[in-house]
Order: sequence, then C-alpha cells, then structure tokens
Amino acid sequence: MSAVASSAPSMRELGEKAQRMIDALAAISADPDRLTRLYLTPEHKRAAELVGEWMAASGLSVRMDAAGTMRGSLPPGRSGKSSNKALLIGSHIDTVIDAGRYDGNLGVVVAVLAVETLKARGVKLPFGLEILAFGDEEGVRFPVTLTSSAVAAGVFDPKALAVTDEGDTSLAAALTAFGGDPTRLQQEAYARPGVLGYLEVHIEQGPVLERVNEPLGVVTAIASQSRHRVRIKGEAGHAGTVPMGMRHDALTAAAEIILEIEAIARKGKKHSLVATVGHVEVMPGASNVIPADVRFTVDVRAADDAARQAAVETIKNFARKIDRRRHVVVGVETMMEKSVARCAPRLQKAIGTAVAAIQGKPARALMSGAGHDGQSMVQLGDFGMIFVRCRAGISHNPNESVTIDDMGAAVEALVGTIAEIARQESAER
Ligand code: GLV
Ligand code: MN
Ligand code: MN
Repeated sequence: MSAVASSAPSMRELGEKAQRMIDALAAISADPDRLTRLYLTPEHKRAAELVGEWMAASGLSVRMDAAGTMRGSLPPGRSGKSSNKALLIGSHIDTVIDAGRYDGNLGVVVAVLAVETLKARGVKLPFGLEILAFGDEEGVRFPVTLTSSAVAAGVFDPKALAVTDEGDTSLAAALTAFGGDPTRLQQEAYARPGVLGYLEVHIEQGPVLERVNEPLGVVTAIASQSRHRVRIKGEAGHAGTVPMGMRHDALTAAAEIILEIEAIARKGKKHSLVATVGHVEVMPGASNVIPADVRFTVDVRAADDAARQAAVETIKNFARKIDRRRHVVVGVETMMEKSVARCAPRLQKAIGTAVAAIQGKPARALMSGAGHDGQSMVQLGDFGMIFVRCRAGISHNPNESVTIDDMGAAVEALVGTIAEIARQESAER
C-alpha cells in the first residue's frame, strides 16, 4: 500500500457524513411513518439508485446486477500479486417491517465512505475493490432469504424463483418487473479465483459491545440457521354447534406446537439455541368459524449445526404427534438452511489489528446470532466481519441507534482492515 498525506476528513466528520447518508436512505420507505423497504419494491429501487450515485461520486464504476444488487467496482491502483483479484465489501439495503435505519444500510454507507477515504488519502491498492449493496438479506417479502448474495456467490437455487409473496407474485416475476433478469442469475456469480475475500461492516444487533464499552468488535462466525413453514389443515365448522370433542381446530393445534417450539429452544441454552415463530396466518379468520387452515413460520438458530438440526427434528416429531392427537394434518417445509459460517482467521487478524489501533485495546471477538450475507459469500472464500456497537443492542426496531463517533470509527476500521490486507498481500510476495 502506498499513501500520500492529504486533507482527508476526520473520524468525527466521517461519522457525521455517515449519519447524513443513513438519514437519506431512511427516508426511502414504503410507509410514510415507518421504515419498510422490501426486496424488489419501488423503494428498494430508489435506495439502490441513491447508493449507485454515491458509488459513482466515489469513483466506482456502477451497475445493477440481474438480482438487483448495486455493484460498484474500482480497479487496482497499482500492480501486485493480487492485481487480478477483487476484495468484495458489502451489506444490504432491504429492511424488515418498521425497521431501524442502521441494519445493513450502515455497512453499505461505511463501504462507500471507506473508498472515499482511501481516495482522499491517495492510497493505491494492489487489488480491486467491489462494493455490493444487496437487496435481500432480511427475507421478509419472500419465504427465501439471502437471494442477492447467493447469486453473487454462485449458490442460488433456481427453484426459489417460483416462491411467491403474499400478493402471489413470484420471485421471478418480481425480478423481471424490477429490471433484473431471472435467466441471467448464474452468470452473475463471481469466479472464486478472482475473489480475495468478502468483508462486511454491520451493527452488532446485540448488547455485548455496549456492555464492555467498546465501539467495534471482530466477528468469529455466524450462527447456524434454518427457516421453515408449517401448515396445519383442520376442518372449518360452526363455532356455536360443533362440540369441543369433535373439532379439528388448526389453530389450537398450532398453539400447542408453537409453545413446544419455545420449550425446545429454552432447553438448548448451551448451544445458544433460539427459535422464533414470527408470522402466523389463520384461515378463514372469522370469530364464529373454527380455524381450518393455519400457516406459520419457524426460524431456528444455534451456535452449531448439530444442535440446530436436532432441535428441528424434535419440532417435527412433536408436530407429527399433534397431527395424530388432534386429527389435523401438519406439514413442515424447510425454506432455507445455512451451516455455521466461519470467519477466516486471516481476515479476523486484519480486522483485529485495525480495530485495536482505533480503540487502543485488543478487539473483542464475538459470534453473530443474526444472519448476514456472509452466509452466502463464505462460499467464495475468506469472509470477515466488523461489528459496530448499537444502543442497548436494539435492532429490528425503529429505536435502533448508533453514535456518530462509532460510525466514524467503523469507517476507519474498514479503511485500516483494507490497508492491513494490502500489507498481508505484499508481505506474502
Ligand atoms: C436478519 O437480520 C436475520 O438474522 O434474520
Ligand atoms: Mn442485517
Ligand atoms: Mn436484519
């Protein structure tokens, strides 16, 4: 790496700029009074275009890929061992419903500001940089998730193109309407030999960094995760005439299963097992009709794959028992399954060095219980993540908050990590 002194912005100024960019993105929402930005919606398009403008202003060549990911690329600034490779840096710009403004968006903003900072300091890297603003990390609109990063990593399953949202629009149709191309997804995968690694900056979404009073941390791995859809078919009937013992009530069957899911997860503390039923639909949904059809989602996560798989099996066995006992039909479908994604020791070291230089003490190592695009990108090779402290660990909530100073520190940490990787690359030559 080579650098010349310049009047680059201070850490505080970088944080202030990050806040302005975060606020500009937060104004792009489906709802006027809360932040909701789902994959392949007009809001997603507007946010992607704004990010594209920022990327272009930072000197990146910009294009929207076939999965709706905004990609900005910068060629190597000088020759070196890795001049034919690119370091990928990304995060996501989709949000949950009634979201906070930092989840995902901060990682994209920090990546753009890191490129600007490198440029302002005259740093010339011996490899290319690519910034990726993914559109589907949350998996809220469709029952699949990490679509856009799975495409970039070459692990997208084309069967997912047939899944539909609540309005019955398929993923394929939504992609086409957005300006993407469901027939070109395979061509959008990076070739492994051309990738130096994938880095992401993300808010912690948990309370550890705040508790230890440190702005930044280095992620060791992302938890094992799966998402399932449960469907219970009972029989509709008159709420006033069918005796209790003769009912096939799909909702009371669901209630028993949901409580058992909670009980199973509570027993898995040793493996950080957690399970969540976040969406329930009851049909026909009238106060005087016995529920005939219930569908709900289950999200299961754990620190190791075996503990998560065992919990899913226990849930399925319990569902089968309820099926027989309550004379309903229960089906459990797996929509998404990801193993633990481990961060590369080489990148953990580079992040640790950069974070320690900013904090003046060693970087805390922590595991991510939340899912991230790194779960796909790890398929391309080395993957690393920087966590940024957020207030009270609150996330997926409009009260999500990150300080200006911590955002400035995050930009410096990413710049430092990129510089450290450049040093590692030169040292290996
Ligand atoms: C995304 O935030 C997830 O962890 O589901
Ligand atoms: Mn996220
Ligand atoms: Mn999220």
